Formats: sequence, structure tokens, C-alpha cells
Amino acid sequence: MALLDIKDLKVRFQTNDGVVNAVNGITLSLERGGALGIVGESGSGKSQLAFAVMGLLAKNGRATGSVTFDGQEILNAAPSVINRVRANKIGMIFQDPMTSLNSYMRVSDQMMEVLLHHKGMSKADAAKECIRMLDAVKIPDAAGRFRLYPHEFSGGMRQRVMIAMALLCKPDLLIADEPTTALDVTVQAQIMQLLGELRREFGMATILITHDLGVVAGFCDEVMVMYGGQVMEKSPVDPVFAAPSHPYTRGLLHALPRVDQEGEELASIPGAPPNMMRAPKGCPFAPRCEFEIERCTVELDPLTEFTPGRFRACNRKVEELA
Ligand SMILES: Nc1ncnc2c1ncn2[C@@H]1O[C@H](COP(=O)(O)OP(=O)(O)OP(=O)(O)O)[C@@H](O)[C@H]1O
Ligand SMILES: [Mg+2]
Repeated sequence: MALLDIKDLKVRFQTNDGVVNAVNGITLSLERGGALGIVGESGSGKSQLAFAVMGLLAKNGRATGSVTFDGQEILNAAPSVINRVRANKIGMIFQDPMTSLNSYMRVSDQMMEVLLHHKGMSKADAAKECIRMLDAVKIPDAAGRFRLYPHEFSGGMRQRVMIAMALLCKPDLLIADEPTTALDVTVQAQIMQLLGELRREFGMATILITHDLGVVAGFCDEVMVMYGGQVMEKSPVDPVFAAPSHPYTRGLLHALPRVDQEGEELASIPGAPPNMMRAPKGCPFAPRCEFEIERCTVELDPLTEFTPGRFRACNRKVEELA
């Protein structure tokens, strides 16, 4: 049984201007210990997919489909069920640490609360465990800084505190949503290295959400490329870099900075992501795609396994994308 099984997940938002179709039928499964990267430009539905899994959608949002965790349905489950899973089984790291840290509480109190409430630990044991975790995320002098407030840490250190907090309950699954975008490049690399080490140490499955295919290459076994709330390509990581099967993935790869091109301007994909207000008809990428044919504006072939283990949704054959 897969650890996480998502079937035909859709997320819609009700707004004054109409319905926003943020996630349009995503199916995926993740094994214990696996690492899946989800990439796509801004607005492609990556975060709302994660929020739907965690039961954290905004009030005007509604999710349909199915999400089972360890065999238990958690999509739209009773608060008691989803709270238990969130507290003990799934940890989430957000782009902005202040989403999950409270500015007015000492780090020690916030971290200990998790263990006192959910694990029923004694105060002394909880404090010891929290400091051990702050050590594990390489916060220097963890014991000395344990009682500080979040604002007394630098941005990078705050991100580490949040990671420590997400890992406190030894989750089976970690969802990291752009865990490093707010940080400078050196700190980004340090945090990704740390996440890799922690993953090996704790053996947890990870979903890494990012704009950056480069980050996925170093971290994940599998990658899912999203656009317009749909999956364009899903594949083990290595062949995607060697031979991307989808025009959109190609575009993302071209937009990657390369060491040998330092100083040159980055090629970005011309055009802008679709307006999710209009229900997508055909392929959402069609208006920006150099391989577009007439049919693409009307319908899109479903996600299909074109070679063992690799899936794509495109009306053109791989050989046609010369
Ligand atoms: N509460 C809301 N009401 C209406 N629309 C929303 C709401 N929350 C998100 N959306 C829309 O859902 C779509 C998908 O958003 P999502 O946050 O998943 O994008 P993303 O892929 O995570 O982008 P980014 O890389 O910028 O974080 C966007 O068009 C966004 O505007
Ligand atoms: Mg996002």
C-alpha cells in the first residue's frame, strides 16, 4: 500500500468574479521513504494541492476526489482525524517561516507544546527532545538559543527552527512548499543539504514543491510537472533532464541557470500562465506552446505512460517535438 494516494483531486475557489479552478484532477501516489518533486510556474496549483492534502484550504476553497494516507481517507475528513494525522504523521514546511511560527511565543514554548500535547511527554523530556532536534538542524548553541523569540533568529535560522518543528513528531511524510525561496543562495543550498540528510536519517517520504527543476534534480527520485492545475509530465528524475517529453518541461529546463552561461540572460517561457477563472478547455499550455496544433485548444490526451515509468499529457508525439 502506498503511503499517500491521491485520486482525481480537484480544488475550486468561489470568488466574487467566479470560480477559480486551481487543481484540475491530479492523481499520484507516493511510497514510504520516496521523494517526489512538484514543479511548475507560479499559479500552477502546487500549493493548493498541498493545502488540500493537509486540510488547510482557504474558506472559499473546496476539494473533491480522494486522498488516502496509510489507507485512511483524509480529504474532507472530520477535524479529529485530520488533526491527528497532521500532528503525528505529516509535517509541513512553508515558504515563509512566520506562517507556522508565532512571533509572540518563545521558540521553546512553541516547540514543546507539540510534544506536551500530542505525545504526552514530560516537560523535561520535551525540552531535551526539542534541543536535540534544533541540534539536528544545525542551529549553533541550540540549548542556549532555545528560549529566544523567532525574531531573534536570522531568516535562515528561522527556517531551520520551522524544519525542526515539522520534524518533531517524526512524520512519515514531509511536505516542503518552497522551503528556501525566501533565502539567499548559499543558505538555500545549506537547507537543501540539511533536508537531504534528515530524510536519510529519519527515512521519511518527502514532497518538495518548487519552481526550480535544478533543486529537484539533487533531491527527488520522481518529478511531477504541473501547469494550469494539471499534470503535464511525471517521471523518474534523471530521464526528464536527459530528454524532457513535454514542451512545457523543455521550457522550464531552458529557463534553468547554467554554470557555463553565467552572466547570460535567462530564457523564460514566452507568455503568461493561464487565467484559472476560465475552466481549461484543451491543453492549458497550448497558447504558449510552439508545437500547438488545432486540436490542442479543444481537447488534451489524458496522462499516458509513453515509456515504462514515464507519463505525459500532450497531443503531439515525443518524436514530433524536434
Ligand atoms: N483563496 C483563494 N481564492 C481564489 N483563488 C485562489 C485562492 N487561493 C489560491 N487561489 C488561486 O489558485 C491558483 C493556484 O494557486 P497556488 O497557490 O496553488 O499556486 P502555486 O503553484 O503554489 O504558485 P506559487 O509558485 O506562486 O506559489 C492561483 O491561480 C491562485 O490565484
Ligand atoms: Mg505556492
